[in-house]
Amino acid sequence: MGNSTSALDLARGAENVVSSASTIQITLRINGAPHTLRIEPRVSLLDALREYLDLTGTKKGCNQGACGACTVLANGQRIVSCLALAVQYEGAEITTIEGLAADGAMHPMQAAFVEHDGFQCGYCTPGQICSAVGMLKEFNSGFPSAVTKDVSAASMEFSDEEIKERMSGNLCRCGAYVGICAAIREVFQAEVTQ
Ligand code: FES
Ligand code: FES
Repeated sequence: MGNSTSALDLARGAENVVSSASTIQITLRINGAPHTLRIEPRVSLLDALREYLDLTGTKKGCNQGACGACTVLANGQRIVSCLALAVQYEGAEITTIEGLAADGAMHPMQAAFVEHDGFQCGYCTPGQICSAVGMLKEFNSGFPSAVTKDVSAASMEFSDEEIKERMSGNLCRCGAYVGICAAIREVFQAEVTQ
């Protein structure tokens, strides 16, 4: 009896075997720096950022692709990180809200959100800003949206309707949409007049 192994010990041993066998080591490039971590393949990019790398600027809202709070840039394209597996993005250049500022200066989109009160509680803001940066790149590359009137035109009009449609994946429960649109419009116009 004194030498017997309990069912609990057996279960713990099996759990250890499973957990060490089911994790893998990956290296993610985030905001220009490599980060090596050991995770289970099922870990989302959002959880890798927040729970493993302490990059908590990226927010978790719905965790199912519906709110946009977790938006980051992968090779310059906006993605919802809650629906992305971290292992899929080995080798990609990930940019989070922490990586947008440069040389101590806010990214123009960050500055415009401040200038135009594009937030209230701020929870959706990192996702809104990353999404807006990616959205402008899409627009400037000529990608039409569902409300683009003439997809064959040489240039598209950057209307409020376009902004609303293209940013419709990013929800703001505080309703700061007027400021968000104004901020995005200002950055677009500044880029055009450069
Ligand atoms: Fe990813 Fe809502 S947390 S879309
Ligand atoms: Fe509060 Fe958008 S600023 S949810």
